[in-house]
Amino acid sequence: MTPDQTIWASLPVPAFVISAEDRIEDANSAGEGFLNASVKSVAGTPVWDQIAIDAPIEEAFERARSNGTPLFVNDIDVGTGSRAPLQCALQIAPLLGQPGKMLMLISPRELAGRMTQSHTVKSAAQSAIGMAEMLAHEIKNPLAGITGAAQLLSMNLSPDDLELTDLIVAESRRIVKLLEQVEQFGNLSPPDFRPVNIHDVLDRARRSALLGFGAHMKMIEDYDPSLPLAFGDPDQLLQVVLNLLRNASEAAEPKGGTIRLHSYFEHSFRLRRSDGTGQSLPLQVEIIDDGPGLPEDIRNDVFDPFVSGRENGTGLGLALVSKIISDHNGWISVTSVPGRTVFRLSLPRVPRGYDIEEKT
Ligand SMILES: Nc1ncnc2c1ncn2[C@@H]1O[C@H](COP(=O)(O)OP(=O)(O)OP(=O)(O)O)[C@@H](O)[C@H]1O
Ligand SMILES: [Mg+2]
Repeated sequence: MTPDQTIWASLPVPAFVISAEDRIEDANSAGEGFLNASVKSVAGTPVWDQIAIDAPIEEAFERARSNGTPLFVNDIDVGTGSRAPLQCALQIAPLLGQPGKMLMLISPRELAGRMTQSHTVKSAAQSAIGMAEMLAHEIKNPLAGITGAAQLLSMNLSPDDLELTDLIVAESRRIVKLLEQVEQFGNLSPPDFRPVNIHDVLDRARRSALLGFGAHMKMIEDYDPSLPLAFGDPDQLLQVVLNLLRNASEAAEPKGGTIRLHSYFEHSFRLRRSDGTGQSLPLQVEIIDDGPGLPEDIRNDVFDPFVSGRENGTGLGLALVSKIISDHNGWISVTSVPGRTVFRLSLPRVPRGYDIEEKT
């Protein structure tokens, strides 16, 4: 191989050479993987038939071609015939010395640069969830086949062997349940913003926790009665608090413990984004427990999906929490030592000029 060919083959991101007629001329091996097809089978086919981009970039693409300048596009969904769209960054550049030809690199979001923490959390969750959703979809069909075949088999079996087919059926059902949980995550709708009394949310969560998963816990309310209304989706915020209470209760099993629900106002708390804009997040809610604390080995990744320190945990609870808080333009942080774990939510108040009568 010439050095050029070696570099082309080693490039870890999908790369394509596009002809002046917008047909695929070449793809590196990552590109073949991305399309799930060989160069031979796609060479000469129109590129936008193979790669579906959910954004009007044709014009910018033509401009890049005619001006000979590169084009960078972030955060767009790129799909192929064989798979659901992935969030990607595109880099497109004219191929030197070959008029009309373009080089296109596609970096799926999990490879692209990491930005602010909440952004990272959100996109990590999104790409992993996107992948999981795709897998969920792909796994369900063969699984139905396996279950059906096991049930057919079981008709002519001795009781001993029956146990085995029952196991196949039971375990397949367990997988289907997990897949459904993943799909539910993908279906989360954007928040329905309205003025919310955070203390109502905390109360509802506390009461339902005490009746169920948190019956072994003691809960202390430590509210700032003058706290203004938050701006958010009460049902989604309830899900957030329930998840945090559930985790604290599970960590304290079996002997129980104490959870403190703390609210306070911090006038100066602002979230600065990487693009320079800021948002005021003066409402603080802390869920504090006196349990063992986050396990050492996962403490930096607890907000990532599928990270769990529990035997039967799916690791979706905190990923969902961070997705919802991030959709609320809020902030979540955690500090944890044995005996004191604090999950802190910072939320915006109702925007000035918002008509409170409109929606409550
Ligand atoms: N208050 C807490 N105290 C100690 N460990 C915690 C606490 N909250 C979360 N964790 C740890 O973080 C892990 C991830 O939590 P997360 O809610 O995302 O998933 P999970 O509870 O394992 O599963 P799921 O919520 O999907 O049933 C937990 O498994 C647990 O190890
Ligand atoms: Mg959980």
